Amino acid sequence: MCEKTEGFSAKAILRGLHKVETKVIKIKEENINWQYIEEAGAIIRAGGLVAFPTETVYGLGGDALNAASSGKIYEAKGRPSDNPLIVHIASMDKLAAIVREVPEAAYKLAKRYWPGPLTMIFNKAACVPAQTTGGLETVAVRMPSHKVASALIEAAGGYIAAPSANLSGRPSPTTAKYVIEDLDGRVDMIIDGGEADIGLESTIIDLTGDVPVILRPGYITEEMLKETIGRVDTDRTILDGNAKQAPKAPGMKYRHYAPKGNLVLVEGTQAQVVSYMNEQLRQYKLERIKTGVIATDETKDRYLADSIKSVGKREDEEQIARQLFKILREFDDEEVQVIYAESFESHGVGEAIMNRLLKAAGHQVVYLQ
Ligand code: TXA
Ligand code: MG
Repeated sequence: MCEKTEGFSAKAILRGLHKVETKVIKIKEENINWQYIEEAGAIIRAGGLVAFPTETVYGLGGDALNAASSGKIYEAKGRPSDNPLIVHIASMDKLAAIVREVPEAAYKLAKRYWPGPLTMIFNKAACVPAQTTGGLETVAVRMPSHKVASALIEAAGGYIAAPSANLSGRPSPTTAKYVIEDLDGRVDMIIDGGEADIGLESTIIDLTGDVPVILRPGYITEEMLKETIGRVDTDRTILDGNAKQAPKAPGMKYRHYAPKGNLVLVEGTQAQVVSYMNEQLRQYKLERIKTGVIATDETKDRYLADSIKSVGKREDEEQIARQLFKILREFDDEEVQVIYAESFESHGVGEAIMNRLLKAAGHQVVYLQ
């Protein structure tokens, strides 16, 4: 059983009329300050908002069972309210109360990948407010592995609704610095827990149909999911910029992760990519347009751009995933106007990397071969 909750902190009522005063605190995963956790949990129980670290990206948290809190999340983020939120739990015994049934596949996946960067979609129980699920009859649930996140979820009553802690349309924040940049004055508290380990949002898998379907690729890859539960499909609309059908995860239809500069992906052999980009970069230089390149360690010394950022070694996909959103934000800080990015292999974690890059680029790709 779970019940909808209500509650308003004075600050939460004032939000919208006045700027909220945001308290920023630091909590280390390896040495948790329980007094701070208690304070943060009390804010959420009272209907307020707390941004917090997870192993994927930072989350903007409110009480998932309080319709008004979810309303505040959309408002703070500037996000369309038809885009559902993920409900974060800290223990398996909290799952049954918010879903109609737990399919066998969910138990298998939870056993293997929870706590961790996997979100599963279930049919929702009545106690989950429509505001939390963007009006859908299904609910997305994740159990994060970050110790600060699980401590906070428990202190907050067990259910935290949290989208990524960025303003709508901006790259997801992987450090508290960028959360502060986007949400200072919009949330009651920001917990700084250092740099996110994974750097890309969780894999989302829909378990409500006959065949489980991946709605958003992530660190837990299709191969890994298949190994645990057998047949798994991928919603192709999420990978194809020209798909006519709307993607099943409503959030995937919005242009996301967008840097302020115009981002274009270039695909081809290393020599083709370097020579094409340099030709373009030369032209922009003449026009005094500030340029950037998302390169790899192998190529970073070969470009003529004003700002060249390496995501790491080409074969180290985990490092690329960790760096990507931070680099997009750094280009914004530097006011780069045109950004070229190399392309990556699109299987394994690379599928998630390319998915985010393609979305950031609004699917602008130059194919050289
Ligand atoms: O790693 C993550 O998942 C992070 C951290 C904070 O946990 N959260 C995150 O939330 O990325 P957000 O709101 O930025 O992305 C959630 C995605 C959206 O694309 C949304 O449309 C989709 O999940 N989603 C949520 N509930 C859904 C549902 N019931 N059915 C289909 N898609 C859903
Ligand atoms: Mg997001």
